[in-house]
Amino acid sequence: MDAVVVKIDSKSNLETPQMSTIADSNVPTHPRSKRFGLFVCLMAALAGLLFGLDIGVISGALPFIAKHFVLNDRAQEWIVSSMMVGAAIGALGAGWLSWRLGRRHSLVLAAVLFIVGSLWSGFAGSPEHLIGARLLLGLAVGMASFTAPLYLSEVAPRQVRGAMISTYQLMITVGILAAFLSNIGLSYVADWRWMLGVIAIPAAFFLVGVLALPDSPRWLLQRNRGAEARAVLQRLYANPADVQAELDQVNEDNTRPQQGWSLLRKNSNFRRSVALGVVLQIFQQLTGINVVMYYAPRIFELAGFATHEQQLWATVIVGLVNVVATFGAIAFVDRWGRKPILYAGCAVMAVGMCALGFLLHAGVAGLTAQVFAVASLLLFIAGFAMSAGPLVWILCSEIQPQLGRDFGIAVSTLVNWVANMAVAATFLSLLSTVGEANTFVLYAILNVIFGIVVFFYVPETRGVSLEKLGSNLMAGKRLRDLGKLN
Ligand code: BGC
Repeated sequence: MDAVVVKIDSKSNLETPQMSTIADSNVPTHPRSKRFGLFVCLMAALAGLLFGLDIGVISGALPFIAKHFVLNDRAQEWIVSSMMVGAAIGALGAGWLSWRLGRRHSLVLAAVLFIVGSLWSGFAGSPEHLIGARLLLGLAVGMASFTAPLYLSEVAPRQVRGAMISTYQLMITVGILAAFLSNIGLSYVADWRWMLGVIAIPAAFFLVGVLALPDSPRWLLQRNRGAEARAVLQRLYANPADVQAELDQVNEDNTRPQQGWSLLRKNSNFRRSVALGVVLQIFQQLTGINVVMYYAPRIFELAGFATHEQQLWATVIVGLVNVVATFGAIAFVDRWGRKPILYAGCAVMAVGMCALGFLLHAGVAGLTAQVFAVASLLLFIAGFAMSAGPLVWILCSEIQPQLGRDFGIAVSTLVNWVANMAVAATFLSLLSTVGEANTFVLYAILNVIFGIVVFFYVPETRGVSLEKLGSNLMAGKRLRDLGKLN
């Protein structure tokens, strides 16, 4: 955690001397609690690795599966999209489960589903079995993509909360990169069963890891298990004063059971935070990220890369840039704040997409044009990875009030998967209806709109406790002012 432990500067939200002392002392400094914090962070973030692996591996495996089972386009679409359907259901179900069973047990269940789903897909004897297995994996991905950021946001000291949740996004990108690499391996050995089944191994690691995780102190408090919450906090913060400072934040909302629909119906403030989470997740997908993730080889084909091998290697570079640029978010999210990073990211993404659109319009002929096309795509990826990728997950887990957190995050996670499906399903038709160049220019425009939405509606949450964000929301403050301390 050393790299992410940052000092609160004078422009911080935490301005008064008294508060900044508390804030600074809240970052665990004892080596044992730092190690424990790092372990908690990595284990929960492993959920992201499995998410990424399952997203990335299918594009490489599909041609071989199609050949093996002699599948038409429709059956192939089902094999790809069954995971997303499962993920949407899993995300919604996890909202309820993680409240009833707790965040840790939800993660344990997701890990078991990952193991079963991976083995089942590796051994699938028919396309129907494969669809069933992918549905199950989808449930696991959906549960994990809901629970992991939520859990991380609840155990993280607020000064490093952004970095800790970004670790989850980092793991997603590592998973995607590993899947892209395995797709290359697969193109040589042609063994799709092994490629799908082997994901059971990291899933088993994940299971062992989450079994060793503590329950979320905030969830324990809500279940009236204060002594256990204190014990967890004592492991996370070596200093008793810091433990007390965290416990002092407990307000009435922390000790009341979670509400969902009922709160949504009766409370317009909650409707605002749910709507913001939904909008953020829609815009994350409208950046066009998964167009690149799912169709990168096709985009490289448009950019003049003739052989399948060239396209796959270029795709690996996309995966690599995705990982490397995520470190930028980890390093700066708690230092510069959420909004400046989002503005920069939206601008970079828009420039990348726009440049690609213009190049395709002009016709990518010759090495220089090819290099520019790849550079534009990589610029876009870097922009996403340093901003909208991690930041949207961070913000969605921060903006919901205590009373409706599980419901609010479940809804935004569900929308992430639905929007993901919609974008993936419309890309090829967009290419053929509005044209290649215009498609990318359209995404550029959507990224500019995203930046404008951030300006008007997104709060700066850096260094602000979840309780303060929640009380500001419920007091009727404007969304963009939720992070203000007074
Ligand atoms: C998004 C995924 C995307 C991934 C790429 C995540 O934040 O939610 O849809 O595939 O980033 O790194």
